[in-house]
Amino acid sequence: MSRSSQSPAAAQAVSWAYAEEFFPQPDAARQARAVSQRLGLEPVSPGVAQTLTLLARLISAQAVVEIGTGVGVASLALLAGMDPNGVLTSIDSEADHHQAARAAVAQAGHPPRRHRFITGRALEVLRQLMDSAYDLVLIDAEPLDYPEYVEQALRLLRPGGLLVLHHALLGDTVAKESNLDDEPLIVRETLEAVRQLDWLTSALWPIGDGLLVSVKSEPA
Ligand SMILES: C[S@@+](CC[C@H](N)C(=O)[O-])C[C@H]1O[C@@H](n2cnc3c(N)ncnc32)[C@H](O)[C@@H]1O
Repeated sequence: MSRSSQSPAAAQAVSWAYAEEFFPQPDAARQARAVSQRLGLEPVSPGVAQTLTLLARLISAQAVVEIGTGVGVASLALLAGMDPNGVLTSIDSEADHHQAARAAVAQAGHPPRRHRFITGRALEVLRQLMDSAYDLVLIDAEPLDYPEYVEQALRLLRPGGLLVLHHALLGDTVAKESNLDDEPLIVRETLEAVRQLDWLTSALWPIGDGLLVSVKSEPA
């Protein structure tokens, strides 16, 4: 095996970029990504989008909750992997984000019966959703609210369901334990709290801005 003469960190950055861009993005996702950039939103990376599609497909997800729709980049990825009759419930506080997301999923050919976009404050909406009724919950909104989002997500998930938390690394700020700014501190504490729960099996993946994935145990 021939090895690069680059430093390990530089070689890792090249491989990271290669993996992120390896799978072509569908046109609708590419366009939603461009709209996100115009609005100053940070959508999931192409590698995270591909992972969301894979996870939803692995569990044939029928019922998925997304916290933080943005303009629909992750929604498109989830819908692509879910069961063809599955329904995505996606929450955002901004009606104009939802308008753009609706256009994106329509462009991708997903009929309205496959999604419901609920405009409102996430914590208020989540409290109205049913216990143990969802196969996958994606958290991708305000990091300061992550502890409450995780609490709600664990209530909503059925046994065997997946908790997926985006921005788990927040650039390098979560890993730098000397950084005690509010956002990295709260995300770090959230990761540590998840790690403590012995009824979750979890992994922290350094793709995109970091993805924590946990599966909730089936009852013994
Ligand atoms: C990073 S963007 C989501 C990106 C999206 N998941 C994607 O991949 O395209 C975060 C979104 O969370 C929404 N948001 C922030 N705080 C919220 C809250 N308390 N309730 C609902 N939505 C919120 C913002 O309006 C924004 O659209």
